[in-house]
Amino acid sequence: MEVKNICCIGAGYVGGPTMAVIALKCPHINVTVVDANPDKIKAWNGPLDELPVYEPGLAEVVKEARGRNLFFSDDISGSIEKAEMIFMAVNTPTKTEGEGAGMAADLRYIEACAKDIAKFSKSDKIVIEKSTLPVRTAEKIKEILEENSTDIHFEILSNPEFLAEGTAIQDLFKSDRVLIGGDETESGQKAVQALVDIYANWIPKEKILTTNVWSSELAKLASNAMLAQRISSINSLSALCEKTGANIDELSKAIGMDHRIGPHFLKASVGFGGSCFQKDILNLVYL
Ligand SMILES: NC(=O)c1ccc[n+]([C@@H]2O[C@H](COP(=O)([O-])OP(=O)(O)OC[C@H]3O[C@@H](n4cnc5c(N)ncnc54)[C@H](O)[C@@H]3O)[C@@H](O)[C@H]2O)c1
Repeated sequence: MEVKNICCIGAGYVGGPTMAVIALKCPHINVTVVDANPDKIKAWNGPLDELPVYEPGLAEVVKEARGRNLFFSDDISGSIEKAEMIFMAVNTPTKTEGEGAGMAADLRYIEACAKDIAKFSKSDKIVIEKSTLPVRTAEKIKEILEENSTDIHFEILSNPEFLAEGTAIQDLFKSDRVLIGGDETESGQKAVQALVDIYANWIPKEKILTTNVWSSELAKLASNAMLAQRISSINSLSALCEKTGANIDELSKAIGMDHRIGPHFLKASVGFGGSCFQKDILNLVYL
């Protein structure tokens, strides 16, 4: 299937840079990024040195694609209606109340997105989970879509984002892998292929991994847990070094030279931070 119009709901840290790179690499596709926060859209349309996200290389990408085939808009309904493919890149913070408070992911923004997609769609859509979500969320999204619309076929894919803040553009240009999860049905596989075709404009085919939806949803949480675990382990070993006269940098080097372990994420420091590790691990433990 040929995709001519993409819509992304959520113009944040993930939605903005990922869609800017898709637009840059796919000049034949119109990409519109929408957000419930009009100030954010205004900022994305404003001066390049005041974009709402700072990432090395982002301003250059936006400069080339914005106004050509990359648009930031507050017309959520019109952009959903026009698109064949819709990414959901809204925030999924830790729940602060109700069942699972302090651990589970708060899915209210994803649910609101799904309701909007159902409400404004007049033709079949491929709906893509770009946000980090608990495994089996696609089932819940499908339920919301089907309850709130009639006669429209929605195909749900999982396509988690692995970029790291600070190296987002390089990570998007040269991803270690792009993960796409879809249903094993014929229409599911067609949708998977449509998304593979988009990434194949710049990502080598062998780095585009296709799986079932549940593996893809779970792989993102698992990946962040494995990375955080290395930081926690090396920090615990650092405490032991301080008591025993061993040197943590020497230890990291000695461990990391083992090809089964590898050298990355073995630098002792303060505990892990950033916007994702804590919430994603809490979510995984809750699951
Ligand atoms: N930040 C990262 O480094 C990173 C990396 C990988 C994955 N992720 C995941 O990607 C998702 C998005 O993260 P982010 O950092 O971009 O969040 P963010 O808070 O920067 O952006 C989310 C945007 O969604 C908008 N939004 C929320 N509900 C909406 C709705 N119903 N309709 C329209 N717009 C709506 C918000 O106004 C906000 O601008 C999360 O699930 C996160 O875990 C983040």
